[in-house]
Amino acid sequence: MCGIIGYVGTRDASPILIESLKKLEYRGYDSSGIGLLDHQSHLIVRKSKGKIKNLEELLRARPLPFSNIGISHTRWATHGLPCDENAHPHTDSAHHIAVVHNGIIENYAELREKLKKQGCRFLSQTDTEVIAHLISVLYKGDLKLAVQKAMARLKGAFAIGVISKDHPDMLIAARVGSPLIIGLGDKENYIASDVPAILDRTRRVIYLKDGQMAVLSKGRVEVFTFDGKKVRLKVDTVSFTVGSAQKEGYDHFMLKEIHEQPAVIAAMLKTCLPAGRAAHQSGKLKLEGLTISDKALASIKKITVVACGTAYHAGLVGKYVLEALARLSVEVDTSSEFRYRNAIIDKHTLMVAVSQSGETADTLAAVREARAKGAKVISICNVIGSSLTRESDGVLYTHAGPEIGVASTKAYTAQLMMFYLLSLKLAQVRHSVPVRQQRKLIKDLQSIPKLYREVLKTKTTIVKIAQANSHFGCFLYLGRNINYPTALEGALKLKEISYIPAEGYAAGEMKHGPIALIDEYRAVICIAVRSHVYEKMISNIQEIRARKGNVIVVATRGDRQIAPHADYVIEVPFVDELLSPLLTVIPLQLIAYYIAVKRGNDVDQPRNLAKSVTVE
Ligand code: G6P
Repeated sequence: MCGIIGYVGTRDASPILIESLKKLEYRGYDSSGIGLLDHQSHLIVRKSKGKIKNLEELLRARPLPFSNIGISHTRWATHGLPCDENAHPHTDSAHHIAVVHNGIIENYAELREKLKKQGCRFLSQTDTEVIAHLISVLYKGDLKLAVQKAMARLKGAFAIGVISKDHPDMLIAARVGSPLIIGLGDKENYIASDVPAILDRTRRVIYLKDGQMAVLSKGRVEVFTFDGKKVRLKVDTVSFTVGSAQKEGYDHFMLKEIHEQPAVIAAMLKTCLPAGRAAHQSGKLKLEGLTISDKALASIKKITVVACGTAYHAGLVGKYVLEALARLSVEVDTSSEFRYRNAIIDKHTLMVAVSQSGETADTLAAVREARAKGAKVISICNVIGSSLTRESDGVLYTHAGPEIGVASTKAYTAQLMMFYLLSLKLAQVRHSVPVRQQRKLIKDLQSIPKLYREVLKTKTTIVKIAQANSHFGCFLYLGRNINYPTALEGALKLKEISYIPAEGYAAGEMKHGPIALIDEYRAVICIAVRSHVYEKMISNIQEIRARKGNVIVVATRGDRQIAPHADYVIEVPFVDELLSPLLTVIPLQLIAYYIAVKRGNDVDQPRNLAKSVTVE
């Protein structure tokens, strides 16, 4: 699971490759590497464990010669430890061919044994290395043909870049499952895992399809199917731009992104909610990108939401909101489960796929599965032009701006807000909510950015609570009803960046297991804002206190009843309980952040994680 970049042209390849590679670090940062052909056609490879900055240090110590062609890679380890040997590019035994790879070769073990018998010497534990050896044994002077033959023997999902010392003006790319694009420049061409990685170099791109390979030289690009048939090129011109992100005085991107939430939500509301008097009277929402007619929306019988990680938690909140407002039956599944369970969906099902990056492999597979069964797919996505947006029938962009911190914060609340807006839109076309109630909801939504700012003002209290509880070795997060997913998200945030075991649970389920965990050494974070399940939460909190658990409660501002039941109280302003997950998650993001900082962790790039998971 990785990011790949390739270049062939007239300029010096290595600075171009490294700069573009940095834009793919969201796909993994276990190691990185670069492979070039110098002017005598020597294949030179440099690689380093850890982040791209380590590779840059290595290149400063051992500079690369000028080169017009090269490939580079940033890795998230699937097969083999994150070490120098397992970093890409991988080469054949003669060191003639170099390969970078994103994906998983499922039959690598069997191929490896066969190749070993043919005399190939393996230097790494990766699945990728078999590709380099395989191409090498199939090579009889025609690199394109050798890659083509190798493709027929590989099983799994992959996108690859290949160079060979025998072909100093040839860069070959191929894909099955994992995304790969070709960028067309002036006397230079690129391959990349995504468009933003090369957007400051060219806007003319070819989206390579599954089962296609491309042969690039500095002046030419040709695309073929794996059986060698030439494909007519379809060149797209990309119109979007990608913002670059700076920390702007914050210690970490995550903290900056937490603070950006009021502005992100305000901008979304401004774009989508009715403006002007006439529009206000009609109350009609503008959901640009929805592209499914009101008539088609009105005929939907069921909604299926798929997503992974934090986006999945947004989908769980979305279920409560959609069911409450649109009165449609909603099921939510993690993409990895959905894709293999032969779900019952048809043309009357609307799939909502949620993804910050739009590159999550399982979510892409779930979307393909749903569309093959006739369902329409709307994606809620942050990254413009990502794979998911190209494979959906409609796209609702969250426009949260680049999210750099691996632990998702502003993308999550933007996804939540999009669920409120989509639910309202469906309620309008299905006439499931009276107009007066719609107006009240719109007004309440408009107050959210201001309420966010109020929550963020209580940061000093939250910092103190986080610091006072950072020593606990285990956390339990409890919530009910629409704040049950908030409990899951709070626990995930803490796990991701503090590495403390944390479990999110439906408070009503506590007695069926997690209560056994509770003693004076555990911290329990309870979401107990004013709602129809408030009293039930209080009972759960008392049960924890009776077992000496340390209780931190997220409560509604001014709630005097709660104090006697809690060791610490974090207040959020009152909102209708349907909207409360928008607010209750903010203190949980901050608690996770400050605990991770106290523990000295790498908050923005936590160990073992990647911003986007591009293998299943
Ligand atoms: C990874 C990230 C999470 C993210 C999840 C889904 O696990 O570390 O922060 O929520 O992938 O990513 P997506 O881009 O599809 O929202």
